[in-house]
Amino acid sequence: MRLEGKIAIVTGAGGAIGRAIVARFTAEGAAVVVNDINERAAEETVDLVTARGGRAVAVIGDITNPTEVKRIVQAALDRFGGIDILVNNAMCGWGPILRNEWQPVASVGLLGPWLLTQECLPVMRTAGRGAIVNISSVNALAGFGNEHLYSGIKAGLIGMSRSLAVREGRHGIRINCICPGSIVTPQWRKLEEDKPGLLDRIKSLYPLGRLGKPDDVAAAAVFLASDDASFITGAVLVVDGGLTAGNLGFDFE
Ligand SMILES: NC(=O)c1ccc[n+]([C@@H]2O[C@H](COP(=O)([O-])OP(=O)(O)OC[C@H]3O[C@@H](n4cnc5c(N)ncnc54)[C@H](O)[C@@H]3O)[C@@H](O)[C@H]2O)c1
Repeated sequence: MRLEGKIAIVTGAGGAIGRAIVARFTAEGAAVVVNDINERAAEETVDLVTARGGRAVAVIGDITNPTEVKRIVQAALDRFGGIDILVNNAMCGWGPILRNEWQPVASVGLLGPWLLTQECLPVMRTAGRGAIVNISSVNALAGFGNEHLYSGIKAGLIGMSRSLAVREGRHGIRINCICPGSIVTPQWRKLEEDKPGLLDRIKSLYPLGRLGKPDDVAAAAVFLASDDASFITGAVLVVDGGLTAGNLGFDFE
C-alpha cells in the first residue's frame, strides 16, 4: 500500500473528485480527514470508505474561514496525530463560476488553499516531510470556453504552488498541482440536461476519445502524495486525456 500510515486532509471531499481521492487514499492505507462545508456529503464519503475498512473522519468546515481552518487542521492532529498530506480540492459550485462571482470563486479557490497550507506547513516542517497536492484545472493553462475568473484563480493556484515548492523543498515538503480536463460529475450531467449532446461534443476534442472520471484524478493524487513522487515538486500534472496536447481539428485528411 502506497500511503500506509500516512495522515491526510482532503478538502471538498463530499464532492465527486474529493470522494474518489478519499476512496483511493484510504484503500492505500491513509487515514483521512474528510472536509466539506456540506455535512451530508462529507458523512456519505466517510460511510462509503469506512464500510470498506478505511479510516476516515468527517470534519465539517468552511475553508475560507481562518478559525474553521485551524479547527480542521487541529482535528487531524487530535484524531490521527499528524499531517503528512494535504489535498486542496474544494471549489464553489458552478453557478458562481459561470457568473464570474469574485467572492466565492477566489475565496474557495485560492484563499482556502492558502489558509490550509499556512496551517499545515509548521506541522510538516517539524516532521521534516509533507506532500501538498493542489487541484487546479486545464482552464489554468488555456481557454476552453471556460469563465476567465475561474481560469485566473486556478492559474494563481499553480503560481502559489510552484513558489511554495521552491521555499519548502529544504524542509522535505513537496507541493504539486494536478490539472484535470473535463471530469464527468453530477454537475456536468446537470449542465447537459440543459444542453443535450454537450458531453459527446466535448468528448470529440479529447485525443483519448473519452472524458475523465473522478478516479482518474484520484490515481494521480495518490502518485503525487506517495513516495513514488519523492523527487517531484513544483510540477503541474495534466490529467486531461491529451486535451492540452492538441487535437486533430487541423488534420488535412
Ligand atoms: N469536474 C471537473 O470537470 C473538473 C475539472 C477540472 C478541475 N476540477 C476541480 O476539481 C475539484 C473538485 O471538483 P468536483 O467536480 O469534484 O466539484 P464538486 O462541486 O463535486 O465538489 C466540490 C466540493 O467542495 C465543497 N466546498 C465548496 N465550498 C467549500 C468551502 N468553503 N469549504 C469546504 N468545502 C467546500 C462542496 O460542498 C463540494 O462538495 C475542484 O477544485 C474543481 O475546480 C474539476
